[in-house]
Amino acid sequence: MRKIGVLTSGGDAPGMNAAIRAVTRYAIYKGLEVYGIERGYTGLINSEIKQMDRRAVSDIIQRGGTILKTSRSPEFREVGYQKIAAENLEAYDIEGLVVIGGDGSFRGAKDLTDNCGIVTVGIPGTIDNDLAYTDFTLGFDTAVNTALSAINNLRDTMTSHERVCIVEVMGRKCGDIALYAGLGGGAEVIIVPEVHNDIAQIAKSIAVNKRKGKTSDIIVLAEGVCRAVELKQQLKDQGITSSIKTTELGYIQRGGAPTMQDRMLAAQFGVRAVDVLLEGKGSRVVGIKDNKIVDVDTTEALKMERVFNTELYNCASILGM
Ligand code: ADP
Ligand code: F6P
Repeated sequence: MRKIGVLTSGGDAPGMNAAIRAVTRYAIYKGLEVYGIERGYTGLINSEIKQMDRRAVSDIIQRGGTILKTSRSPEFREVGYQKIAAENLEAYDIEGLVVIGGDGSFRGAKDLTDNCGIVTVGIPGTIDNDLAYTDFTLGFDTAVNTALSAINNLRDTMTSHERVCIVEVMGRKCGDIALYAGLGGGAEVIIVPEVHNDIAQIAKSIAVNKRKGKTSDIIVLAEGVCRAVELKQQLKDQGITSSIKTTELGYIQRGGAPTMQDRMLAAQFGVRAVDVLLEGKGSRVVGIKDNKIVDVDTTEALKMERVFNTELYNCASILGM
């Protein structure tokens, strides 16, 4: 293999730039030519391809977002468009492709291998931490720290006014951002899709907290359960008399400088991804398991079922009482 491509796809995540840098510089070190594909699979279909040298990735390690841009490309699910994408790569003699994204992007990479013979490797880049085969995805740590900083600020004002605050965080159907930010922020209640939620019980615990002398309650709500305003209404219906405020953190969680942990992951994922491509083994994804960098067959990785950390959740619930 002499030439490889790299693209970012799906929702952006802090650390994607650091991963692009690692892939580019390590591949060049290994004697490869590197091509950046802009706008994810949309750019692959439209042949938005440009060669990258070491300087093309200067001054990006600390930046959130992705210099390659990203997209959601519904048409790429069709084999016809995948073939066009593969022809565009072949026109540049690009034989291997690094795809930085989430599970949807990995399904696209696998299709490119299965249907068009392009060797692909996935780097897990999503704030959601919703991939079973890896303990952490790129961007998750930064997003959690951003949410944590917001929770700290909210605590100040909620305590001053003796209020309840519902903080809605992202994560799709995965409750990890809520769990980690909730635990780190000392939340009284954490509501995630993976655990059954009894609204009457939550309302009761808020009333008990008030009697015990708590001066504020922070409820961290994962977006996969419901909207913050809906939960507020449900709590009001249960007879909560405290003032309840809602804050939807939204896209603020997706931006910002990557944390040290995300930069470490980006460097190690990037290097392993290039090594995996050089082995030319079909479609694989890289990750971190028990503190070790691993690579796994994409089909196997996508089949694995996520296990929610119930122990951590119970720990957070006890500490938040
Ligand atoms: P993420 O990669 O973060 O999960 P998406 O689910 O939006 O984000 O997927 C990103 C892109 O991957 C989609 O816009 C589409 O181009 C491609 N993709 C998603 N699912 C599939 C699939 N089943 N087959 C082929 N390509 C897919
Ligand atoms: O997958 C990352 C993510 O930020 C989710 O947490 C969120 O639900 C979704 O993307 C938002 O997607 P979009 O950028 O398309 O609004």
